[in-house]
Amino acid sequence: MYSEKVMDHFTNPRNVGEIENASGIGTVGNAKCGDIMRIYLDIDEQGIIKDVKFKTFGCGAAVATSSMATELVKGKTVQEALTVTNKAVMEALDGLPPVKVHCSLLAEEAIHAALWDYAEKHHIVIEGLEKPVNDIAEVVKNEEY
Ligand code: FES
Repeated sequence: MYSEKVMDHFTNPRNVGEIENASGIGTVGNAKCGDIMRIYLDIDEQGIIKDVKFKTFGCGAAVATSSMATELVKGKTVQEALTVTNKAVMEALDGLPPVKVHCSLLAEEAIHAALWDYAEKHHIVIEGLEKPVNDIAEVVKNEEY
């Protein structure tokens, strides 16, 4: 059912954790399954993503897609990070079962939410970036989960 890469990123996820004083934090949730994903970005003055970490409270595919998404955006510019779509993440994982496609969407949205947060904090506009619909930062702002 799952590719070897999915299993690898699920059992040995890369970049798990938090970044203190992150440049941008994105938290998104899927209302149907209840899974939550948070991405932390450390972005330098040149707009390059120096470091990225994630915490995912969700299914195996959500963990694997978060892990792969962090690998794909690391070292990229903010603009390049926008090209890391859920399709790109799925391709890098050698595919996902159709019922698990929404999990990869969560990863894309978490990155976008973190970029949105970064843009807001720095009063900049990232061309082509829209606020993710499942951004739940306001809801969980004062909650630990
Ligand atoms: Fe919800 Fe995978 S089942 S993110």
